[in-house]
Amino acid sequence: MRQNIVAANWKMNKEVQESYNFTKSLSKKLLNLKRTHIILCPPFTSLFYISELLKNTSIALGGQNMHYEKSGAFTGEISSSMLKSSGCDYVILGHSERRHIFNESNEAIKKKIDAALSNDLKPIICVGEKLGERQSGKTSEVIRSQYKSAFSDILEYEINRCVIAYEPVWAIGTGMTATPEQASEVQGLIRNLIEEQYSKNVADSMPILYGGSVKPTNANSLIETENIDGFLIGGASLVEELFFEIVNIVEQYSIE
Ligand code: PGA
Repeated sequence: MRQNIVAANWKMNKEVQESYNFTKSLSKKLLNLKRTHIILCPPFTSLFYISELLKNTSIALGGQNMHYEKSGAFTGEISSSMLKSSGCDYVILGHSERRHIFNESNEAIKKKIDAALSNDLKPIICVGEKLGERQSGKTSEVIRSQYKSAFSDILEYEINRCVIAYEPVWAIGTGMTATPEQASEVQGLIRNLIEEQYSKNVADSMPILYGGSVKPTNANSLIETENIDGFLIGGASLVEELFFEIVNIVEQYSIE
C-alpha cells in the first residue's frame, strides 16, 4: 500500500517569523494524521528555524531546490548537505518554475537528483507538459523524455526514495486544474514507465502526486482517482485553513 503524501511548496513566500508562526499553528492540527505524510517546503531562510519546531513530529521538511555540486564558488546556491543540515529529508527538483523561468535543463535536473540521492535526501521529482505541448498532442512524449532523463541509471534501492509529482505547467498557479481523467492518464503513464524500467512492485509502491491549482473544491475528485497518491500544493498551502482542509480530504483515502 502506498502512503498518501501532501507536500506544501511555499515558493518565494513567507518571511522567517511568519513561517515559524504558520508552522506552529498548522503543525498542532496535523499531529493526529494516520495515513497522510506531510512535507513542508518553505524558503531556504526558514528551514532551520522551522526544523526545530518539527523535531518531534512526523511532519517532514523539504527544500525547494539545490545545486548539484557539494560546495564551492557558486554564489547564491545551496548544496544538498546544507539542506540536510537544516533539517530537510526531501528536496523538490525539476519544478516547472525552475525548468521554465530559470532554464534548468533535463541534464541539470538529473545531476541534482543524483546529488540528492547520494546525500541522503529524497527527491520530489516534478514532470509536466506546457499548454502548447498538450494542445499539439505531445504530452506523453514530454513526460517520457523528462522521466527517462531523470531516472536513467537510478538503481532500484534508490528509486524507493523518490517521489514523483505530475504538474501540468498550464495548471500551476493558473486556477486551471487537470481533470481527474487527464491527471490519471499521465500518472498511469508514469507508473507504466516505472514498471517497464523496474518492476510492477516498484511501480505499485511509488507515490505519484498531482500538482496544479489543487484546492479544497477539487481535491476530493482528484484524490479518489486511480494513480493519484497525494498532492504538491502551491497557492493553497499558504493559507492554513485551505491546506488543512485538503489534508483532511486526503486523509480519508487509503490508497490500495
Ligand atoms: P499551485 O502550485 O498549487 O499554486 O498551482 C503548485 C506547484 O507549483 O507546485
